[in-house]
Amino acid sequence: MTLEYHTGGLICRIDVGRGLLEQAGGLFGLDRKVLVVTDDGVPAAYSQKVLAQCREGYLLVVPQGEENKSLDTVGTILAGLLEHGFTRSDAVVAVGGGVVGDMAGFAASIYQRGIEYYNVPTTLLSQVDSSVGGKTAVNFGGVKNIVGAFHHPSAVLIDPDTLDSLSPRLLSEGLAEVIKMAATGDRALFESIEGASDLRPHMEQIIASALRYKIGVVEQDPKEQGLRAVLNFGHTVGHAIEAASAAAGGREFYHGEAVAVGMLYMSEGEARRRIEALLRRFALPCSDPFGTDVLMSYAVHDKKRRGGSIKLVRVSEIGTYDFVQADADTLRAYIQSFKEQ
Ligand SMILES: NC(=O)c1ccc[n+]([C@@H]2O[C@H](COP(=O)([O-])OP(=O)(O)OC[C@H]3O[C@@H](n4cnc5c(N)ncnc54)[C@H](O)[C@@H]3O)[C@@H](O)[C@H]2O)c1
Ligand SMILES: [Zn+2]
Repeated sequence: MTLEYHTGGLICRIDVGRGLLEQAGGLFGLDRKVLVVTDDGVPAAYSQKVLAQCREGYLLVVPQGEENKSLDTVGTILAGLLEHGFTRSDAVVAVGGGVVGDMAGFAASIYQRGIEYYNVPTTLLSQVDSSVGGKTAVNFGGVKNIVGAFHHPSAVLIDPDTLDSLSPRLLSEGLAEVIKMAATGDRALFESIEGASDLRPHMEQIIASALRYKIGVVEQDPKEQGLRAVLNFGHTVGHAIEAASAAAGGREFYHGEAVAVGMLYMSEGEARRRIEALLRRFALPCSDPFGTDVLMSYAVHDKKRRGGSIKLVRVSEIGTYDFVQADADTLRAYIQSFKEQ
């Protein structure tokens, strides 16, 4: 199925379908010079399939992992473009998760002040989250996503078959973001996940519904001035859990796992019970070991950058939400009240 989203006069096309990887050449117009960027954790078969459909294709494999999402790696991509004499009419295709997509997209945004970039996200998280919105970035100076640009992909191809090779943990992490979108704005999607004993046959539909929802939000608020904050449901406390877990020396909580717990802090009543039931089903965590003061120290650090108060998203009924403009005391009270239950 094909989805479209409109942004600043551009139309970005997203095709979702099993086996679509075979059609990348036609869908992206790869009858030209193409740099296919992937990382060494993505099964090579996916990038090879795309490469085979390019008239003049070059493959660049970068090292996997968030720690390699850096200006150095972007430099490697730029060097590849330069070495092969890429010009404005040529293209970059990212094949991989959000790390590859963010770096290839950023490199494409600055090479010759911007060349075309196409995205083939291969993790559930990147399929439902990074394929819409045009954000590209790398980490710098120890700060995540601090250097980047808005550069929309010319087209996105999502082949749910690529999820077959993903670990159950990474699949669940992506599902946490799907549950986030369903809980705040798509009750039918939430119920279809609740009702399906096996998600695999429904994956195409689930991805498309999540994307439709995200497209609706991003189209109404392209530069993150208001409504888009709804996509942060679970993320204020989630980011604090993620940061506390990273500071403790490990990656005990993946991003989606931290967001899963974060959603429980920000929901109540029947909505909380239903979200928690889904999280348990997908082996996502429902609690964290960090104290209120620790979480507050990370969350307030986050809040200060935005000047004073923070817009929280609360869900008390599945499919809808409230914004709460909260100061530190209100946030502390929400955290405390969850911990006391
Ligand atoms: N641009 C945006 O709007 C946006 C939105 C959300 C997240 N992000 C960024 O995305 C990144 C996280 O993305 P991610 O979760 O996809 O992480 P990732 O790209 O690091 O992928 C996770 C791991 O899975 C491997 N992998 C990828 N596809 C696979 C497949 N099909 N089968 C088996 N293994 C596979 C990768 O090699 C990697 O080791 C973060 O850097 C985050 O900042 C960006
Ligand atoms: Zn997220």
